[in-house]
Formats: sequence, structure tokens, C-alpha cells
Amino acid sequence: MTGPDAGPAGGGPPAEPLYTPEFAADPGAVYARLRKLGPAAPVELAPGVPATLVTGYAEALHVLRSPELFVKDPRRWPALRDGTVPPVSPVGLTLSHRPHCYTADGPEHLRLRQVIGDALDRLDPGTLRAVVEEQAGGLIDALIGRAAGSGGRADLLADYAVPLSALVFDRIAGCPPAHAARLQEAAAELLVTHRQGGDPAAGEAAWAALLARIRELIAERRRRPGADLLSWMAEHPADLTDTELAHQFMLLASFAVPPQHNLIAAALRLLLAGDGLPVAEAVEEALWTDSPLAGRAVYFPVRDVPMGETVLPAGRPVVVGIAAANAELAPEPERRRGNRAHLSWGAGPHGCPARGPARLIATVAAETLLERLPDLALAVPAEELRWLPGPFFRALAALPVTGIPAAPPPGPRPAAATASPPDGGPGQPGRPGLSGETGESGRGGGDQPAGARFAVTRKPTALARMQAALAQWWRGE
Ligand code: HEM
Repeated sequence: MTGPDAGPAGGGPPAEPLYTPEFAADPGAVYARLRKLGPAAPVELAPGVPATLVTGYAEALHVLRSPELFVKDPRRWPALRDGTVPPVSPVGLTLSHRPHCYTADGPEHLRLRQVIGDALDRLDPGTLRAVVEEQAGGLIDALIGRAAGSGGRADLLADYAVPLSALVFDRIAGCPPAHAARLQEAAAELLVTHRQGGDPAAGEAAWAALLARIRELIAERRRRPGADLLSWMAEHPADLTDTELAHQFMLLASFAVPPQHNLIAAALRLLLAGDGLPVAEAVEEALWTDSPLAGRAVYFPVRDVPMGETVLPAGRPVVVGIAAANAELAPEPERRRGNRAHLSWGAGPHGCPARGPARLIATVAAETLLERLPDLALAVPAEELRWLPGPFFRALAALPVTGIPAAPPPGPRPAAATASPPDGGPGQPGRPGLSGETGESGRGGGDQPAGARFAVTRKPTALARMQAALAQWWRGE
């Protein structure tokens, strides 16, 4: 058994860097190499920042489901405490402690997570679908409007998936456009500060500026509550402070925007590569093969924990290799069909509380686009698309396409959303909310237009809903 100092210094196998373009280009090859060392192996999150990557499915589940052994609070990490990992750096930004549920454990985690879970439970899937369709419709109109000048080309990541995820989040979170613009500016400043690294004072100032902007929004929602996540969190009986609310809001934004647009882009890539999958299945396949948070589930052992032939040292980050574990469980496409056992939503106490809404957003985003623009095609072969380097996320750098017509093709337009308040702000208080996955499109497809190139799933009929419910029951969901 290798000791806690496995890695170059301890004479163990060399640590694989997870931050290089080579890793981003072919993570599967790195996972395969690491798997030969056992279910857990040494990696680096940044130059000189050691961690352990768990590549085995059973072992990954063990980490996620053992809060008595593996905790979220990064204040246990000596390298962060002693400044080896500067707090003002990309890794420091991602892994520092904040007063939200994601870096909390035990009763404190439960208290903060309950507020998010209860707010998400009030999201009405029908309203969410209408919001996505409405925002997607506006972005597609803009793509068509620019088509004459762009030669029918666009980058579906920058021109569709990214703005769509942000617009949808702003609407469901209760962030009107004027606030959203100020928040985005402050968040961009924070990211730049941390990417440049170094100056702790600049890092503090950037955080203070962002939190001040979120506090303005909280004050607005407390004055005029709406049917939105922030208002629901603010009025929750847990009575969060403004600081807790601000960080919970930031946490929601950080999960609801980047992973969401990465999932939409990864699913569109599969659909446009022409493997003939229905949209909902392409979203699921992307979760299996290009998990947006491939390395984001980081935990800290409370003591040295043996795993396979190695030991996970107390306090050293353990990265649950979501993508690696998915690949171990179901390497062949046949083993993935109709199977939702992937770890792309995490598992255990910190597992994603928003998987229903997130699936719905991705599915409706892809359906709406492909219905309106059936001639879309990848501008380069799928295998030539570039992925961004970074240990935490699986993210396409761009998704260039052709085939956008200069005028809308004949055919049905998505119904105008009813969820839109006249001022672009949050909706009316008291609107009923639903939760869970009930609003997900089923896979009926019976009303598929003849000759359609993509197997777009339309709003489910009663029969299709029943079939979908049966299928879910069959899969044990
Ligand atoms: C579409 C893509 C999404 C993916 C792939 C995803 C995946 C995940 C994963 C893997 C975790 C657990 C991470 C860990 O164990 O460290 C997680 C947690 C979380 N997700 Fe999601 N998520 C997505 C979308 C969303 C959305 C849309 C929201 C909110 C609106 C959200 C809110 C959260 C929150 C608050 C947590 C932390 C829960 C806790 O600490 O108890 N996620 N997500």
C-alpha cells in the first residue's frame, strides 16, 4: 500500500495534471492510465496542487455517500490554510469556503440546503418550459436576423447556450435585466482578479463589489417579492441573513449557468453529429459521456482513509471522477440507453437538487432550436471540436454551425410564453409551484413532423405522459 505521500515526493507514481490542454482533448485516455493504478490515483489540480482522483464507480459512490469520512468544508485543506494555494487563484476561487450549503457539512448543510430545495420545489415545470421557449425564441430570432451577414453561421455556445442559460436563470431567480447586467459586470471582474492571481486585497474588493450588487437585488426582492427563487429563499422560515442569501444566490448562479450551458452544448454536439438520438436521450448521453462537472465534486477526508492499494490523506482534496466513474460503469452505448445510473448529478447529501429543472432546460433548449432551425449542421467534424482545459469542468470552447436561414422557415413557431411579466422582472407572487421531473418532456414523438431531421420531443400528450411515467417507474426513478 502506498502511503499518504504517494506522488513524486513520496516516490509513488507521478501525478497526472488535470489542467492541461492534453487532458481536455482526451480525458478518457488519462482516466484509463489512472485506472491501472487502482480506483484512486494522484493528480494535480494546478501546478504543485496535489489531489487524488477517484476513478472507480463504486469508490466514487462511497465518497459521495460517506459524509462521516469525506466532508465539503475546505478549511480542512492545509494547502489552502497555509497559502500554498492562494485564495485569489482559479483553484482558490472554486474551492474556498463560503457561507452557502455547498461548503457546509452536517446540520449547517441541511439548514442551508433545505432553503434551496424548498425554493426549487416551488418552480413550476410548465412555467419553466415557457420561460426557456420564450428566451430561446428571442435568441433564435437574433440568429436568423444575423444570418444574411454571417453566411448562416454561428457559434451555438456563445450565441445560444451561454446567453440562454443566463437569461433563464435570471428569470427564475428573480433578477431583472438591469440588476443582471450589473451582476455580470461584477462577476466578470471577480473572475479576472482570480485568473490573474496574487493580490488578496484585489480579491477581497472584487468579492465585496459583487456581494454589494447581490445585496441590492435582495433588498429589491424583499421590497417586492415575486414568484422566483430569490424571493422564495428570502421568505423561507429558516430566516437566512443577507450574507447567507447572497452566497446561496451566487451558488445557484454558478451551478445554473456554466454547467447548464455546457450540457446544452454537449447535447447539441451529439445531435448535430447525427447519431439519430431523440433529444431527451441525447441530453442523457451527454451526461454520461461529457459530464459538465466532470471533476467538480471535491471532498476532504477527515482522516487518512484507505482505498484500494492507496490511502487518501486527511485534508488532501479527493476529486470524485464523475466522468471517469461513468466511463467505468457503462463504457458501451448499449449499457447507457435507458439507464440513469451515471454520477453526473452527484449523489449523497450534496447531490444536485435541481436535476429535474436542469434536464428540462437542456431538453427544451435543444428541442426549440432544432425545431426552428432544422438545417443546422456542424461547421467542423465533431471530433475536431476543442474542449477548454481545466480540472473541474467539461466545456466545449465553441460549437460552430452552419445552416441558419436568413428568413424563418415555414412551420409552427413556439407558443408565446405566458410567464413573461411586462417589465421583464419577476412574475407575480403566489403563482402555484410544482417540482421534480414531472415537467420533463416524455419521449412520445408520435406527433413528429414527417421528414423531420431531428427526433425532437414535443410537449407530451396524455398517452405519452403515461408511457413516460411507466418508463420512469420501470427504471426505478
Ligand atoms: C445542467 C447541469 C447541472 C449539472 C450537471 C449539475 C451537477 C451537480 C453535481 C454533480 C452536484 C454535486 C457536486 C458535489 O458533490 O460536489 C451538484 C450540486 C448542486 N447543484 Fe447542480 N447541476 C446542474 C444544474 C444545476 C442547476 C440548474 C441548479 C440550480 C438552479 C443546480 C444547483 C445545485 C446546488 C445548489 C448544488 C449543491 C447542493 C449541496 O451542496 O447540497 N444545479 N450539481
